[in-house]
Amino acid sequence: MEQLLQQIEAVKAEIAASVATTPSEVEQYRIKYLGTKGLVKQIMGEMKNVPNEQKKEFGQILNAFKILAEDKLVELQAAFEQGDEASSNIDFTLPGDAVPVGTRHPLNLVRNQMVSIFKRLGFAVAEGPEVEDDWHNFGAMNLPLDHPARDMQDTFYVQEGTETESAWLLRTHTSSVQARVMETQKPPIRVICPGRVYRNETISARAHCFFHQVEGLYIDENVSFADLKQTLYFFVQEMFGKEVKVRFRPSYFPFTEPSAEMDISCQICSGKGCNICKHTGWVEILGSGMVHPKVLENFGIDPEKYTGFAFGMGVERIAQLKYQVNDLRLYSQNDLRFLQQFKSV
Ligand code: DAH
Repeated sequence: MEQLLQQIEAVKAEIAASVATTPSEVEQYRIKYLGTKGLVKQIMGEMKNVPNEQKKEFGQILNAFKILAEDKLVELQAAFEQGDEASSNIDFTLPGDAVPVGTRHPLNLVRNQMVSIFKRLGFAVAEGPEVEDDWHNFGAMNLPLDHPARDMQDTFYVQEGTETESAWLLRTHTSSVQARVMETQKPPIRVICPGRVYRNETISARAHCFFHQVEGLYIDENVSFADLKQTLYFFVQEMFGKEVKVRFRPSYFPFTEPSAEMDISCQICSGKGCNICKHTGWVEILGSGMVHPKVLENFGIDPEKYTGFAFGMGVERIAQLKYQVNDLRLYSQNDLRFLQQFKSV
């Protein structure tokens, strides 16, 4: 009996000292102590040799011994179940899953390219608010009170004006940023103003209630119409290539005098005639002109000393000519099949 007790004590010590560094070592432990031919079973088998009067006492010792062996197994298994099992199955040498990278929006690609071309000519970027007051969007830009552009049909009003308070609206053009710049800067001024503008239009393939413009403003002594033409000519050549042809048509804008619209040879059909150029071979891309003396005076800039030119163009139109996008709605529908086509310019 004494011998059996000693054996139990020895096996208990062994169990207590057992460690497992892999799941298969846990399994080895289980087979050695708790398997059908394991030590626990063997020792339990000795019960039949124990004299009857000692059976009760021995039964308790053997039971405690069995529980100890089982507890240890649970302890060893636990180490591999708490996430360690997963880590042991992961092959860290495998390449990781690629995280798909988004693409830039085509309008941002085109806008960035426009900005970088003008930056090379020394233009700085200026920005203004999208919610504007009447003065910066209209008044300062020499749009008389009865000008049709102020019509409720075209302009989204946030708040109508009263006798004492200005009307607030969503800017209808980036020309409002010209006003913001002239308010805070003295000539020489050379800025471009990219931004979103809003007009109350029914949404269709050709019109949208919001779109994007890039405005330009250059004021200094001796700025001439020739400077305007050369600047814009440089721009379209950089944007569309040296082959592009340009033509200026006289036009009217309240904030410029004289005013002109600029057409370029159609980039879709190379001037042969197509739907985009309405079979004329030419596409209008911008409005421009020499800053009206009244606009300069509105900001205390002496029109006898300073002259300037300004222009404004639609980013969607430039993108349409570059990428042949024929439906304006595509730009804001967030359809990945459309957006993923534009990896870079
Ligand atoms: N603001 C005009 C528009 O929204 C575009 C424009 C025309 C801007 C002539 C100018 C300009 O700066 O000189 O259609």
